[in-house]
Amino acid sequence: MNKIYLDNNSTTKLDPQVFDAMIPYFNEKYGNASSKTHYFGWEAEAAIEIARKNISDLIKCESSEIVFTSGATESNNISLHNILNLNKSHLITMSIEHKAVLDVCSYLESKNINVSYLKPNKNGLINLKKIKESINKETGLVSIMHANNEIGVIQPIKEIGGICRKNNILFHVDAAQSFGKIDIDVKKMNIDLLSISGHKIYGPKGIGALYINKNKKIKPLFFGGSQENNVRPGTLPVPLIVGIGEASKIASEKMESDFNYILKLKNLLLNQIKKEIPDVIINGDFKNRIPGNLNLSFPCIEGQSIVTSLSKVAASSGSACSSSVPKPSHVLLDIGLNKQLIQSSIRIGIGRFNTKDEILIAAENIIRTVKNKIQL
Ligand SMILES: Cc1ncc(COP(=O)(O)O)c(C=O)c1O
Repeated sequence: MNKIYLDNNSTTKLDPQVFDAMIPYFNEKYGNASSKTHYFGWEAEAAIEIARKNISDLIKCESSEIVFTSGATESNNISLHNILNLNKSHLITMSIEHKAVLDVCSYLESKNINVSYLKPNKNGLINLKKIKESINKETGLVSIMHANNEIGVIQPIKEIGGICRKNNILFHVDAAQSFGKIDIDVKKMNIDLLSISGHKIYGPKGIGALYINKNKKIKPLFFGGSQENNVRPGTLPVPLIVGIGEASKIASEKMESDFNYILKLKNLLLNQIKKEIPDVIINGDFKNRIPGNLNLSFPCIEGQSIVTSLSKVAASSGSACSSSVPKPSHVLLDIGLNKQLIQSSIRIGIGRFNTKDEILIAAENIIRTVKNKIQL
């Protein structure tokens, strides 16, 4: 039986409208966007500029401030590596960031950069006072994620951006989980660099973008061409770019209706579970959270995770990138959960294509699985 897909924080199904928009750029409109001498090249370039505009509209910046990359991981790498070009030796981030930030920070530590990993409070939120106190004259960059990939908690980005601007510090935001789902205004939020991913918003995998404030100079990670303002050389993957552009356009049209629809499904699922298992624990702040994410723990279950025992639901117990590693989630550890609550945790990601019927079946399956484990 096909499982009900409730792992939309990990990745999302390609929207059929996105797929349709991409197809001609594989087999009919196959020009290289860097070919300036003929129609095939102009056609590809025009399609790329439409995609760039769709993305920039969503985060309220200029088209020229968007650089295409292979995904949020690469955008994070480009952003964080720039600390090495700033003549500064201190970077501030959060301990609950995605590995695509934390692993870059480890590398930078080997290059003599001091990194402050700020811990959140028990709701998963950063304390602004801690950021202010951590800044010193060597601080060149602050990198804070917008929404967490495990607990969905949204950080106070505008306020953090204000602190960075005041102190003349470059501010990077990993928005892989929030882009296209909640409002982002990079100018109002004082963001200098923003990482974007295509496959979290019903677009294709292997494509992302980086917003770079036009007043900031960013160096590339690798060399080989002048594409993308010399920040990201290489022939542009036109079909993928058309895909992320179309996905962004749809996200912008449907942001409010998707938000309300997905939130309704999440509340339905939670209420069904609560009715049968009243001591269920919600991990992370419930209010400041992207609509589709639910991270739950069940106090009475010991032992093996419930996620693998669900017969009808595809969910996860941490980030997809680390779920094959049998280490407890660093996010749940850092918001103070004990081993038992981490082991019994389940991350549910509801998306645009889930239905009410699916949610009711999923609720029943989760309840039955948890109750079976309590009786063991
Ligand atoms: C918060 C966060 N950052 C970065 C990434 C990596 O994004 P991509 O797959 O586009 O490289 C993910 C994906 O799981 C994520 O959730």
